[in-house]
Amino acid sequence: MSELITNIGELFTGPAGILRDAALVIDDGQVAWAGPRTAAPAADTAVDAEGAAVVPGFVDSHSHLVFAGDRADEFDARMSGQPYTAGGIRRTVAATRAASDEELAAHTGRLLDEALRSGTTTIEIKSGYGLTVEDERRSLAIAARFTTETTFLGAHVVPAEYQPAAYVDLVAGEMLDEVAGIARWIDVFCDRGAFDVDQARTILSAGAACGLGVRMHANQLGPSGAARLGVELGAASVDHCTFLTDADVDALAGSATVATFVPGAEFSTRQPFPDIGRLRDAGVGYAIATDCNPGSSYTSSMPFCIALAVREMRMTPTEALLAATAGGARALRRTDVGHLTPGARADLVLLDAPSFVHLAYRPGVHLVKAVWQGGRRATRWQPEVTRSAG
Ligand code: NIG
Ligand code: FE
Repeated sequence: MSELITNIGELFTGPAGILRDAALVIDDGQVAWAGPRTAAPAADTAVDAEGAAVVPGFVDSHSHLVFAGDRADEFDARMSGQPYTAGGIRRTVAATRAASDEELAAHTGRLLDEALRSGTTTIEIKSGYGLTVEDERRSLAIAARFTTETTFLGAHVVPAEYQPAAYVDLVAGEMLDEVAGIARWIDVFCDRGAFDVDQARTILSAGAACGLGVRMHANQLGPSGAARLGVELGAASVDHCTFLTDADVDALAGSATVATFVPGAEFSTRQPFPDIGRLRDAGVGYAIATDCNPGSSYTSSMPFCIALAVREMRMTPTEALLAATAGGARALRRTDVGHLTPGARADLVLLDAPSFVHLAYRPGVHLVKAVWQGGRRATRWQPEVTRSAG
């Protein structure tokens, strides 16, 4: 069954640019054609966009959705002046260990339905609130019910019952062996209060040797060697990048590693927003993601992150939308999503607005009228259990 979406006032196809008075045809779950409305081929069914804008589904390349519990009290305390530390992670670990598989899966599913309603159609999900061999395994098994972009974050913090060196051995050894068949990526939170650069190198190298792709939490709480370690290891992405030095920017500029910003975390931890200017000038590839988690950024909304990136990081609306779509795809080394040119997966968002600029111009307003995921109109998250070619 093919479907024509016609009368699109503004079609944001991705890096290839914007088409006005456009139409798009979906066939077999993919974009079959995109071009001027008057030249559109016939299809089995048709939808009238009534002059509104259509954008690619958002690619959220960084989330921590498998958890239990809530830390609103910590957010409240931060807004009264308490700093963010990674210490709260252990509270979520305790709640997550106590939850059943079905409770965790149901909660993850609710967050994904919420993300879909704000236009997310591809998502990466990390473990990292289990921190035992079995709890990390089941967290990843639950994540894999919903997405192929599963990330092993056993090295989130050192759990209370371990000494750091013994825990690094566990993560790089038995835990990794247990999850290597489920996870696509490996991640380490390399920062003060978590893991240092040498520990991160040990764990990430072990993951890479098992065939996992590398990504990192880097330079979130202060400048460090984390982002440069990511470049050294050929990471697909180094994430947060709140505190990058000029040397970090230079290293990223000569590499295929994407810098992924998570402005929801700066918002919710009252950290400074990094400015995009230096990265733009240096030609660094960048993305934005939600970092959705119960501690530092409890939002599943990519439009909110786009608005923050525009207002606070000084991205243009075009740069922010590209970062939330093609940028996220690049951070996941995907070519099948994040754009709407023929052959792409038909993941698209019909906005209740004449232009994509409204995503930042009308912050906090729900502007998503309809979402297609893999060619189908969706109101509930459609699990992606196999990746399409591309
Ligand atoms: O990406 N920085 C490490 N992990 C999360 C926060 C986790 C938490 O506070 O529960 C983050 O910000
Ligand atoms: Fe994170």
